[in-house]
Amino acid sequence: MARIIGGLATSHVPSIGGAIVKGLQQDPYWKPFFDAFDPVHAWLEREKPDVAVVIYNDHGLGHFLDKMLTFAVGAAESYSNADEGWGIPVLPPFPGHAELSWHIIDSLVADEFDVTMCQEHLVDHAFTLPMKLMYPDAGAAWPVRTVPITINSVQHPLPTALRCWKLGKAVGRALESWKGDEKIVVVATGGLSHQLDGTRAGFINKDFDQLCMEKIVDDPVALTRYSNKQIVELAGSQGVELMCWIAMRGALGGRVSKVHSTYHVPISNTGGAVMLLANSDVATAIAAE
Ligand code: DHB
Ligand code: FE
Repeated sequence: MARIIGGLATSHVPSIGGAIVKGLQQDPYWKPFFDAFDPVHAWLEREKPDVAVVIYNDHGLGHFLDKMLTFAVGAAESYSNADEGWGIPVLPPFPGHAELSWHIIDSLVADEFDVTMCQEHLVDHAFTLPMKLMYPDAGAAWPVRTVPITINSVQHPLPTALRCWKLGKAVGRALESWKGDEKIVVVATGGLSHQLDGTRAGFINKDFDQLCMEKIVDDPVALTRYSNKQIVELAGSQGVELMCWIAMRGALGGRVSKVHSTYHVPISNTGGAVMLLANSDVATAIAAE
């Protein structure tokens, strides 16, 4: 039986890609953020997940404004990246897991989430940079198969936090009913607070970010009570990427344990956050050793 072993959430700022190219991981500006991945690497090395289900928001590479998809699931054997104009390298293609994707899609639609199915899908920085952060030395040989799931956080109207939580729970049910015996990590990318445009450009709300990081562990339902307008007010217009964290947390079991978290401001315009959560049975096994 497939097993969801944990969840990883991280910010996905494009300049992370620039910092990697320039080797700035030890630079004081970047160090706390990159250091957050040391325990993530140790956990990945130890747990060796087979599949990463990556919940993120596309910024116009995979889905554009002419047809904006509220929830979409990739259903391809491979996902390519392409130049988004950020000046960062295009990463080698990522292996998909089409059979698992179709199982997830079947299960979600039966669960009344009428998702868009993407048999071709370009993955943007919100997918590629977290993968690079997880597996910096993988080159073209990514060690996990992937299933991209996108949540619209770009064009009004956005799904609510409660809806994204329910989507995550439905993804969790789909993964638990998968016939394979893969170990699965659910990855959320985006956030935390940031606003890239308008009169509040540069807005970051450290207190709200830290509250979210606390609630996501033990009381995620509290986050589902915020309206989208409240999240924009508290976290900035791009801070709605928090929805991906909420969906990821929904896909994990009821109880999780925090393996690691880092909050470091700013990275670019963003409250930079990394959090690794283990499903409780895995955490118990680690503690017992
Ligand atoms: C930045 C953050 C994002 O989430 C993004 O998608 C693009 C840019 C930033 O802080 O620069
Ligand atoms: Fe973003």
